[in-house]
Amino acid sequence: MNIPESITIVEVGPRDGLQSEPRLVSTDKKIELIERLSDAGLKRIEITSFVSPKAVPQLSDSEEVAARLQRRPGARYCALTPNYRGLERAIRAGIDEIALFVSASETHNQKNVRMSISRSLGAFRQIGETALSRGMHMRGYVATAFGCEYEGRVSLDQVEKIVVEYIAMGVQEISLGDTTGMANPVAVGDMVRRLKPILGNTGLALHFHDTRGTGVANALAAIEEGAVIFDCSIGGLGGCPASRTASGNIATEDLVGMVHEMGISTGIDLEALIECARYAGEITGRNLPGHLVSAGKVNWQRQK
Ligand code: COA
Ligand code: ZN
Repeated sequence: MNIPESITIVEVGPRDGLQSEPRLVSTDKKIELIERLSDAGLKRIEITSFVSPKAVPQLSDSEEVAARLQRRPGARYCALTPNYRGLERAIRAGIDEIALFVSASETHNQKNVRMSISRSLGAFRQIGETALSRGMHMRGYVATAFGCEYEGRVSLDQVEKIVVEYIAMGVQEISLGDTTGMANPVAVGDMVRRLKPILGNTGLALHFHDTRGTGVANALAAIEEGAVIFDCSIGGLGGCPASRTASGNIATEDLVGMVHEMGISTGIDLEALIECARYAGEITGRNLPGHLVSAGKVNWQRQK
């Protein structure tokens, strides 16, 4: 297999996970979770969203989370910004990195942010200029990149078009979101190979939801194609337990556990990460889908 020496994990649980948890988690507990994740060695964490509190009430405490968090040296804290107002809030909160987001499917983008794709991208130009002039990092999400629950299949051309626009705006990283868990390892390989020639210095992250149990297989397919940045959520937080079609990202501890066994490093302390997953279960009052909290880690050294 084509195996890199190391991969980068972007923890998105405090944002992507908690935004759809049915039970509100207190600000204190969110901060505690983020600090524990930093202490486990995660250097990149998406901590919240500066979106409309009516759209996402679970994250309406974003200013307070950002202000009270004890930031760890060397860590990069990211937040989702849907519009210029979101960027202004992120700047005031001292966020290091903003994440722009647009769906590859027109219907999904309308439902999510009530705009057409081209209007979203148009608005990002001004946001991007301001963010970059202030030295902020910037990533661009392409949601529903592997399929949409309303429109079905999404074409590689459509994803590529959005990626080209993001690169022109100067994002440092693209994150391809399999928002509804419709990807499979072959589709992932096709996508990564298609985008590689146009990426240049722009990073490519993969953001898999495990809706159909294919998340880790998809990540492995991406690793084989040379991808090294993965968005995960601690414990597999996210999705709505009442809905069969929404589910969380790959559990951070599951992906980290697997790649460590494969001889790929992440800079993360797996034992501490499993403790974080246990804590995430405690504060959401749920049995989260991640496997390692109950199964424990394996201690297998690769034989060559
Ligand atoms: N921060 C806080 N409030 C905001 C905001 C921001 N960045 N942007 C808009 N708002 C408020 C407006 O003030 C307005 O409030 P009011 O109803 O009290 O007057 C309300 O949100 C609607 O604003 P409007 O400009 O009419 O936008 P909209 O209704 O078309 O909604 C979004 C657009 C993008 C603001 C909204 O859909 C949103 O926040 N979506 C978040 C989606 C998300 O996070 N999805 C998950 C991640 S993929
Ligand atoms: Zn997501």
